[in-house]
Amino acid sequence: MKILVTGFTGKIGSQVTNYLKEKDISMLCAVRNVEKATATFGDGYEFVSLDFSDPSTFDGALENVDRIFLMYPPGEHLQFDIFLKKAKDKGIKHIAYLSLKDVQFMPFIHHYKMEKLIKSSQIPYTFIRAGYFMQNLNDFLCKEIKERQRIFVPAGKGKTSFVDTRDLAEIAAVSLIESVKHKNKIYVITGNEALDFFDVAKIMTDVLGIKIEYTNPSIKEFKEFMKKVGEDEEFVNVVVGIHIPTKLGLAKGIQHDYEKVTGKMPTNIQKYVEDFKENWI
Ligand SMILES: NC(=O)c1ccc[n+]([C@@H]2O[C@H](COP(=O)([O-])OP(=O)(O)OC[C@H]3O[C@@H](n4cnc5c(N)ncnc54)[C@H](OP(=O)(O)O)[C@@H]3O)[C@@H](O)[C@H]2O)c1
Repeated sequence: MKILVTGFTGKIGSQVTNYLKEKDISMLCAVRNVEKATATFGDGYEFVSLDFSDPSTFDGALENVDRIFLMYPPGEHLQFDIFLKKAKDKGIKHIAYLSLKDVQFMPFIHHYKMEKLIKSSQIPYTFIRAGYFMQNLNDFLCKEIKERQRIFVPAGKGKTSFVDTRDLAEIAAVSLIESVKHKNKIYVITGNEALDFFDVAKIMTDVLGIKIEYTNPSIKEFKEFMKKVGEDEEFVNVVVGIHIPTKLGLAKGIQHDYEKVTGKMPTNIQKYVEDFKENWI
């Protein structure tokens, strides 16, 4: 068994890699820039070049692997139809695809189309429909928390089902390792409690020992501030879009598939904040 891990440098791929390394499972780590990845992460990993917008990279990435952890990156002109056709031709036995919670109600988003595309490729799959990542707090929300001690995001008072990407990665890895058991299954992976950002700010305050506030900006305020500090407009619109379901009260659903698959409770946000504490101090 050898697993191709896409999005190696991202919030999920990095954790899939950690899990597989711990279990001593053979893997090939896909990055767009092999030289940069080798310089950054050392030669303890086998890297291969893969850019979903460049089909000339597909054959090399699919060589000598039989399973794929597949994520959908930001960007345009991504050629997943070609990638999946090649994957089928090369005899890939299983794909664990990182999708989105409630995707079945959102035919306009790429995950909906990707699930259909993967199904029609006839490669066995597991779809991991993920809730809102806890790790957004140490990614695009980190700067404002660190510099101004505030969670600055237009999510209103809505609750969301925060999930730790380490739990998502575990489900992805287990699905690929025990592929027969998880063939053509759909798992909705969330944490075990829905929280609003006021709750999160309180937990962060308690754990970090620094007052963190959730300022609950309007979408207008958020966009104006982000523009002022020079953030890319497209990125700002994506961040707004991610938080609209929360603002509308649509993101609070909890599912228990993580527990059903692993027999464990999902990571709670207190533990996540403790583990990543250094990021915000
Ligand atoms: N954030 C959330 O709360 C949330 C919730 C549910 C689902 N999701 C889904 O999670 C996915 C994002 O995952 P993530 O947050 O782990 O990603 P991420 O941290 O933003 O990382 C993106 C990864 O994609 C790679 N990448 C970028 N462009 C690429 C290309 N053209 N070809 C191949 N790789 C490319 C990047 O690699 P380089 O090193 O080459 O840049 C990086 O490893 C999205 O599909 C999103 O819809 C997110």
